[in-house]
Amino acid sequence: MSENKGLRIDHYKKGGGSPSYKETAERMKEVAKQQTMATANMMKIKYKILILSSKGGVGKSLVTSSLAISLATMGKSVGVLDADFHGPSAHKMLGVPTGQGMSARMDGTVNPVETTGGVKLASVGLLIPKDDVALIWRGPIKAGAIKELLAYVNWGPLDYLLVDLPPGTGDEALTLVQSIPKVTGMVLVTIPSEVSKSVVKKAIAFAAKVKTPIIGIIENMSYFRCPHGDIVYVFGKGAAEELSREYDIPFLGAIPLDPRVREASDRGKAFFLEYPDSEAAHAFRDIAAKIVDIVEGGKARIPEVPED
Ligand SMILES: Nc1ncnc2c1ncn2[C@@H]1O[C@H](COP(=O)(O)OP(=O)(O)OP(=O)(O)O)[C@@H](O)[C@H]1O
Ligand SMILES: [Mg+2]
Repeated sequence: MSENKGLRIDHYKKGGGSPSYKETAERMKEVAKQQTMATANMMKIKYKILILSSKGGVGKSLVTSSLAISLATMGKSVGVLDADFHGPSAHKMLGVPTGQGMSARMDGTVNPVETTGGVKLASVGLLIPKDDVALIWRGPIKAGAIKELLAYVNWGPLDYLLVDLPPGTGDEALTLVQSIPKVTGMVLVTIPSEVSKSVVKKAIAFAAKVKTPIIGIIENMSYFRCPHGDIVYVFGKGAAEELSREYDIPFLGAIPLDPRVREASDRGKAFFLEYPDSEAAHAFRDIAAKIVDIVEGGKARIPEVPED
């Protein structure tokens, strides 16, 4: 077997002049090998799902971590890949501290971290020493690092891999749909505001362009239930259901605003495990069951979006 250089994200952060012909040839060989390894890794995972939104801060990381734990409690083997290199946060929402690290193996591959919710996790957030380290990743470097994670993280056989994406439909999303063979589909996250609704349309157009199915749409921060039971629609009402009708995409469910979500993630705890009887946790369980039904029933469809 040829030498395996293994996961070496640091390598991408170095500057340097133009590579020599020999270096370029070696790099190309390594990239080809990585793609073979990534394909072999991904083929061991039954369902690969990207969690996407066009807008930031709408709750992708919360959705990724809570759905992952929900699926694990249903008896599924689940992994989470945090592909948000600029602001990795899925680890904190799964109760894993920043900088915990991933254990390296002799063959250069790394093991994902096993979290308390029974979910496996791989993230750049585990490799940086602390939260306030500013990571500068240019597009091609990010793409290279994502491919390395796909190649060198040793997930083993899994039922589900959920990928937490940064906002938008940029390099990360494109690299993932191009590098993961047979992406099962995307789960879109929005909040009910008109602004968020209009940007989610970009994510739907992206899915159509890259010919990837959409599993459904989740409305987060959908409403706030006051202590005496009244419901307040803080950001408006019904946006996700309207999108679902307009594009014929399944509406997976609504997650209420709950101050304990922010409080738990600030404490570095998994909300779903801390408050399993909350309305939001129940909503996540229902959504996870719908996702299983759609995905395992082969019902996810590529959206039809008219060309501009
Ligand atoms: N339903 C909710 N109720 C209360 N707070 C929430 C809810 N959903 C998310 N939050 C809080 O909003 C913030 C943003 O959530 P999160 O990090 O999951 O969003 P994101 O879409 O992943 O953001 P980014 O685009 O930066 O990756 C976090 O502080 C989180 O705790
Ligand atoms: Mg996030």
